[in-house]
Amino acid sequence: MMRQMIGKCAALLLSFLLTTDALAEAAPPRPARKANGLALTPPMGWNTWNKFACNVSEKLIREAADSMVSSGMRDAGYEYIVIDDCWQVGRDAEGNILPDPVRFASGMKALGDYIHSKGLKFGIYSDGGSLTCGKRPGSLGHEYQDARKYAEWGVDYLKYDWCSTYDQNAKATYENMSDALRATGRPIVLSICEWGLHQPWLWGETIGNLWRTTDDIYDHWQGKHTFEHGVMDILDLQVGLEIYAGPGHWNDPDMLEVGNGKMSFEEYKSHFSLWAMLAAPLMAGNDIANMSEETKFILTNKEVIAIDQDALGVQGKRVAKQGDLEVWARPLKGGGRAVVLLNRGTQTQPITVDWEMLNLPESLSMKVRDLWQKKNLAKAKNSFTADVVSHGVVMLRLEM
Ligand code: GAL
Repeated sequence: MMRQMIGKCAALLLSFLLTTDALAEAAPPRPARKANGLALTPPMGWNTWNKFACNVSEKLIREAADSMVSSGMRDAGYEYIVIDDCWQVGRDAEGNILPDPVRFASGMKALGDYIHSKGLKFGIYSDGGSLTCGKRPGSLGHEYQDARKYAEWGVDYLKYDWCSTYDQNAKATYENMSDALRATGRPIVLSICEWGLHQPWLWGETIGNLWRTTDDIYDHWQGKHTFEHGVMDILDLQVGLEIYAGPGHWNDPDMLEVGNGKMSFEEYKSHFSLWAMLAAPLMAGNDIANMSEETKFILTNKEVIAIDQDALGVQGKRVAKQGDLEVWARPLKGGGRAVVLLNRGTQTQPITVDWEMLNLPESLSMKVRDLWQKKNLAKAKNSFTADVVSHGVVMLRLEM
């Protein structure tokens, strides 16, 4: 009897403790998520989607890896070769993801090895829902299994999309894959691709390394087309997001269209310059095995790339706008400034950058380098003015 009473008292005490905060507080707090330490400058590479959509194969990927080296792109800083949607066809009885056995006959491990043998890194694509946007199997419910497979194949970068996610919570979906990737022990960059729908800039910093800010880009200067935006539309949607970017966590205004054929040389130069100004990931999206000299000239401009990759990691912003004429600027490590003078109009027009727009004293004399002409201009004090052609830019590096 006595034992029964003692037992009851103990049970009461335990249930009391379980319902008080005292016990809850005694539980160790969940460690705060930390950034994975990758992508300290915006990732650079090539991705299949913009040019090839679902038409992917190991032959295409190997040729792209070869061209990345022979074109000088690798030496200019491009690193990741990313296979976007449609490489996957199903799952086996154990739920393992299956690459297309015809298009990727040698298997993903062999392809990863080939990419690595060229001094490059291997990127792949999946989706946080049940199906990818190309209606291939997504990773929902298979996050850890897929992450382990990627690690086995030598994957270094995952673009993770948002189709077929219905009422899923975006943050939790990306946290799941982020944890799964970390559990593999292999450093894998995570590219969050939910098109900016749930403001990933507010929660993505310790989950992934870059997040798409908009719907898809298409090879067009300005204008919307179903879910796609032209370069100028995407540019406008970046205004105000600059405060969220920094080393290891970047706004992603989507991949490059440079060289895909629907814009002019000037427009592609502007697109590339502005993406560098935005500290955007530079993912070429053209046929790099068959590109023109003009396209190569743009994609391998090391001085423009150096702006994108500047170690300070401060995203540029629009500092002046007068109708079609805009000035974009960003501070650089060492105290310099990068400046883009952008003319969205139809006629050549002069554009002036004033030192005041750059938070510099008016009396300061600055060295001016033109990054497309690749030459030093006369020193300037107070301001600098240049004629800018229609849909073109003048891109400058100013140093004390
Ligand atoms: C979209 C994504 C594109 C591409 C495509 C593949 O959702 O924004 O960049 O990955 O899916 O189906």
